[in-house]
Amino acid sequence: MKKLNSVIMAIESSCDETACAIIKDGTEICANVVSTQIKIHEKFGGVVPEIASRKHLEYIDVVIEEALDEAGLGFADLDAIAVTMGPGLIGALLVGLSTAKGLAYSIKKPLIGVHHIEGHIYANFLAHPEIALPCICLVVSGGHTNIVKITEHGHYEILGQTVDDAAGEAYDKVARAIGLGYPGGPKIDRLAKEGNPKAIDFPRAQLDQPLNFSFSGLKSAVLNYLNQMQMKNAPVNDADVAASFQEAVVDVLVGHTIQAMEENGIQTLLLAGGVSANSHLRDRFDAICKEKGFAIYYPPLSLCTDNAAMIGAAAAYKFDRNEFSDYSLNAVAQLPFSEYVTTMKH
Ligand code: KG4
Ligand code: ZN
Repeated sequence: MKKLNSVIMAIESSCDETACAIIKDGTEICANVVSTQIKIHEKFGGVVPEIASRKHLEYIDVVIEEALDEAGLGFADLDAIAVTMGPGLIGALLVGLSTAKGLAYSIKKPLIGVHHIEGHIYANFLAHPEIALPCICLVVSGGHTNIVKITEHGHYEILGQTVDDAAGEAYDKVARAIGLGYPGGPKIDRLAKEGNPKAIDFPRAQLDQPLNFSFSGLKSAVLNYLNQMQMKNAPVNDADVAASFQEAVVDVLVGHTIQAMEENGIQTLLLAGGVSANSHLRDRFDAICKEKGFAIYYPPLSLCTDNAAMIGAAAAYKFDRNEFSDYSLNAVAQLPFSEYVTTMKH
């Protein structure tokens, strides 16, 4: 187990959560403040970027002060300021990034830019510092679906990724189609418990690169099914649609991930990102890992969806490797993890 030594303030503002956390030694959460805008965006059926940026501006100072209060620390106690530099909504990212730069400059401490997905992965190391490498991490969020091989801290190899929609995006779009509202993932999770996962045979896409994913065909199949039923004036059982859709998503996520583990001879699995909060996904992975003798880890629910503690955890390992950013660090809206990994300096 790696021994880290740092006190890091982290800021996350890539989407609709304004968050600040303080992480000690990569494992101790001294503060974890998340101000969510879900209630504001809910009525629009999704995140409105301009509103998100304005709300971040309103709340960023508040969450920083709250984090310091919660931790009982002052700026002088911090070793570095970490921040999500992408991907995400550009205006939203810029609020966090400019604040972090200003803070780092004024307290004369290093700045550490973190990729949002790296943060999601490190929610696992924060919650379970005993995780031994190598491992495979399945990252499933609203914007990403990646199978990542981690051989040592900071070294990532992307084994599979989505070629179109992310898993969470598919959840959100299907939820909207059956009138569940935003964010759709947790609502489908709940509704699916009352439905029959075998009621409708939705497609499981298989691509030439067998570890890649495609969810847009599945989403279209659900929309077509709903349209056909409407045209026939036939009743739709929303719970069956939710359960059958979820079964199709989970089948491919589990299938590809276990294939990646077996092909790479890796016996430790991490789940990360908003969709890793899904109860059915966890149950299916728990069962198959038990059967295969694999170790499985996932973060507590509060660290699955967006938060700054995970950014602070990833930054603690970067701090240990002296991987700092300079003031030219910019926010990047489109930053596929595969691209970031190849441009990372070690
Ligand atoms: O990681 P996250 O908070 O933000 C991104 O980085 O995208 O993930 C948000 C996504 C949304 O698509 C949301 O619907 C999904 O995670 N999600 C879930 C669940 N909780 C959140 N999807 C399925 N089941 C859940 N319980
Ligand atoms: Zn996220």
